[in-house]
Amino acid sequence: MRQKVSQIGNSDLNAELDCSLHAGTPLTEAHSMNATPVRDRLRRLVPSKIKRFLRQFLPQGLIHAKDYVGTDRTSGQLQFELLKREGLGPGSKVLEIGCGCLHAGIPLIQYLEKGNYVGVDPNEWLRQEAMRDRRVRQLVTDKQARFLSVDDFDASELGIKFDLVLSHSVLSHCAHGQLEQFLRNASKVITPGGRILASIRLAQGNACGSSGTPDQEDSMHEKWQYPDVSWFRLSTITKTADTLGLMVVHIPKYTEFYTRTRPHEFHDWVVFFWKR
Ligand SMILES: C[S@@+](CC[C@H](N)C(=O)[O-])C[C@H]1O[C@@H](n2cnc3c(N)ncnc32)[C@H](O)[C@@H]1O
Repeated sequence: MRQKVSQIGNSDLNAELDCSLHAGTPLTEAHSMNATPVRDRLRRLVPSKIKRFLRQFLPQGLIHAKDYVGTDRTSGQLQFELLKREGLGPGSKVLEIGCGCLHAGIPLIQYLEKGNYVGVDPNEWLRQEAMRDRRVRQLVTDKQARFLSVDDFDASELGIKFDLVLSHSVLSHCAHGQLEQFLRNASKVITPGGRILASIRLAQGNACGSSGTPDQEDSMHEKWQYPDVSWFRLSTITKTADTLGLMVVHIPKYTEFYTRTRPHEFHDWVVFFWKR
């Protein structure tokens, strides 16, 4: 029955509700929610009850993938917008670490020139669910987007240097030791002027609703935490980055911007780049 529904109607619903091709209309540089394209603004007016009702018509596998990553196309648009603030242009080469079911990947692939997007995620099934949509498959093919199913954050086998790395809600769940591994391998593939934009959870909490840890210390998890969260002191992040020759900047404004639309996702945002 579900398949039948998906055949008669779901491609339009997919497009409207999902990590769809329409997601490619970028938010503006002005990054004011008031400055978003009309279609995005209209879509936000659709009551969440209706969105929830329509969601049932998505393919079950995609619903599962979306539930797994816990984000949606709006989150992807916000991530896309933050990357624009970090200098994203159509000619940028972008690596997304933890690309999930392509909520940010689709608008990025649409926007970027051919061959300029690479997504990394060990859970290949997530992007496969997104690519069940013919138009997503076509987009990926037309734009020559590439994917790696590795879990060490290492995309160096492709021999590409990236201008930007995006990683949303990956460091927020990683084991303590994975922070160093992430930075070592992500920095290996950035250009001299490259930037790594990542969300993470700061042990100190933030003004947008994150409590941080009770003692404001690193959570020191030995394993990947999911869907639980791991925490880092900003000083730990700074020291780890420093040992690799990287600088880090914490940008609370990115959290404010993101939580204006997604009030319950109060990740902290940091940007890493090479020391001069
Ligand atoms: C909370 S989801 C976020 C997905 C995506 N960034 C988004 O915003 O929709 C976390 C993602 O990290 C991926 N992941 C888990 N371990 C990873 C690893 N070692 N390297 C890269 N991605 C990983 C998961 O498969 C999942 O897609």
